Amino acid sequence: MSGDLSPIDKAKFVAARRAADMVEDGMRVGLGTGSTSAWLVRCLGEMVREEGLRMTGVPTSARTAQLALEVGLEVVTLEQARWLDLTIDGADEFDPDLNLIKGGGGALLQEKIVAAASDRMVVIADVAKEVARLGAFPLPIEVIPFGWPATQMLVEETLISMDVMGRTSTLRMNGPLPYVTDEGNHILDLHLTRIGHPRQLALVLNQIPGVVENGLFIDICDTVVIGYGDGRVEVRDINEGTVETDRIDFVETENLFGDLGD
Ligand code: 5RP
Repeated sequence: MSGDLSPIDKAKFVAARRAADMVEDGMRVGLGTGSTSAWLVRCLGEMVREEGLRMTGVPTSARTAQLALEVGLEVVTLEQARWLDLTIDGADEFDPDLNLIKGGGGALLQEKIVAAASDRMVVIADVAKEVARLGAFPLPIEVIPFGWPATQMLVEETLISMDVMGRTSTLRMNGPLPYVTDEGNHILDLHLTRIGHPRQLALVLNQIPGVVENGLFIDICDTVVIGYGDGRVEVRDINEGTVETDRIDFVETENLFGDLGD
């Protein structure tokens, strides 16, 4: 069945499979959101069922919580766990300093809180997510619904003085209605094309009334596991300055490849 997967899906799977091996017995683990994180959750479910791994998961979205429960993981809230050993999550872009754009799946607020409450954050990504400079992927920011058009105007006005190439923004939609996050907020996607100073932009955006959080993850990610469609994986650690390569077999199991949805 893995033969049915696209090269991108294979790349996502092998990154997730490699990162799942970083989870040790007894760990409290933040579980990301998105298609790559869904592979991770399935891999962890299999390790719990087949290998007796004991771990507790803190999901970063209702979607991830549902999948985690379906595959048999023990799930608690961040309030219950308080602090985490490790968070593993996907990303929309990562740069050479392992700064990230996240929020393509609309879960950036919970994802950032969970990652920041972890001893270590590991990003799992297919190789297409690697960029020299952040910004081609539209930067999501989570905004309070109250007065969101005014917040959008302030954001666009603020972008004039920022080192970015594009300055338009769009309200993310879910069919005919604005998209609503798990925290009841909306998302503005900023079409910046190129972000010159991500750290400065992240700080400035969060000063604007109505902005809850932005999708720039600066100095949060420690390690990236990059997956390739042919089964290769590369593990880069920014603190250790190490790069390891590995290869993952596509072990076909009904459980992992039977349900290919997010
Ligand atoms: C969700 C995210 C995801 O991690 C990001 O969008 C990557 O998704 P995928 O693994 O499906 O490519 O930030 O808010």
